[in-house]
Amino acid sequence: MSQPLIDLVNITKSYDSNVVLDDLSLSVKENSFVTLLGPSGCGKTTTLRIIGGFESADSGKVIFGGNDITKLPPNKRQLNTVFQKYALFPHMSIADNIAFGLKIKNKPKQYIDDKIKYALKLVNLDGFENRSVDSLSGGQQQRIAIARAIVNEPKVLLLDEPLGALDLKLRQDMQYELIRLKNELGITFIYVTHDQEEALTMSDTIVVMNQGYIQQMGSPEQIYNEPENAFVADFIGESNIVDGLMLHDELVEIFGAKFPCVDRGFGVRQPVDVVIRPEDIDLVKPELGTLEGVVTHLIFKGVHYEMEVTTPDGFEWLVHSTDMCPVGEKVGIHVDPFDIQIMNKPASEDEEAVSIDE
Ligand SMILES: Nc1ncnc2c1ncn2[C@@H]1O[C@H](COP(=O)(O)OP(=O)(O)O)[C@@H](O)[C@H]1O
Ligand SMILES: [Mg+2]
Repeated sequence: MSQPLIDLVNITKSYDSNVVLDDLSLSVKENSFVTLLGPSGCGKTTTLRIIGGFESADSGKVIFGGNDITKLPPNKRQLNTVFQKYALFPHMSIADNIAFGLKIKNKPKQYIDDKIKYALKLVNLDGFENRSVDSLSGGQQQRIAIARAIVNEPKVLLLDEPLGALDLKLRQDMQYELIRLKNELGITFIYVTHDQEEALTMSDTIVVMNQGYIQQMGSPEQIYNEPENAFVADFIGESNIVDGLMLHDELVEIFGAKFPCVDRGFGVRQPVDVVIRPEDIDLVKPELGTLEGVVTHLIFKGVHYEMEVTTPDGFEWLVHSTDMCPVGEKVGIHVDPFDIQIMNKPASEDEEAVSIDE
């Protein structure tokens, strides 16, 4: 069941002199929910369009079930796309919108009617056949767009920020719907988003992209707990990213203080990036901490307190804790060794972490 269904092999794509995808290779397993995640402009849509056949790569191959489909037009590929702008035909009924692709294929009327019924049931809109597009909410229109795609029985559904136009609550509801739909259909989803929370919620596999490169590919847990570089750590949730000096295996120096860690193989006295999640910092009595600081900011966030602790070097540490320390209090910073992530500094400028302000 987990054979690679789609392989992108050394895909390169430029627009004019702008390299958008740089030697990108990616393997998608059958029945998986794979999300391409990255900031705007990193090449997600271009990757999806190349898989769908709407765009051709300058070099590289698209393999589907072992066959080279690089030159195959979109309608010959066993996949369907749902775009952010759902592009329903406003003058047609819901049924006609869903039937559109099937009519082009000259499917018999009974077959088409059955498919429409089935698809509407799947997206929880039974009985909507004769409604007009205008009478539907944004969320309902998006479901129709999905219904329209699934009646073609694609092996793969490509979804490009399909929930981007919806408000937060609806988006969260639709996330669960899409997971359910994927499980019921038993097909492969390739999903594009710039929203890290959405990616973490929905995917089996997340592909983090930046500037046409894959930065990391892995399960949501791997991406969150073991980011491979500072870009991934920064992009997936909040992090403290500081310069460190790997003194030797299992010991890193940060702002002159020695923190035991579990990482090995980074060499001796090597500059590294150190990533520590806000929830992994324990605030203790000043004399018990590895570093001393002062609480300079405090907000109550409902589930936890968000604090900022400034250390003498001027760095502001972001701390999440259910225990509150008031502004002005002297505290010690303690981090358990396995909560410290050590990363190599980016080797080239291409991989340089860029800061994201969403
Ligand atoms: N048809 C095009 N012509 C020229 N540049 C394009 C075209 N499509 C995309 N680009 C550029 O390629 C880069 C990647 O775009 P895209 O794949 O849409 O990114 P994403 O979906 O991750 O936001 C961007 O810099 C974008 O401006
Ligand atoms: Mg896009």
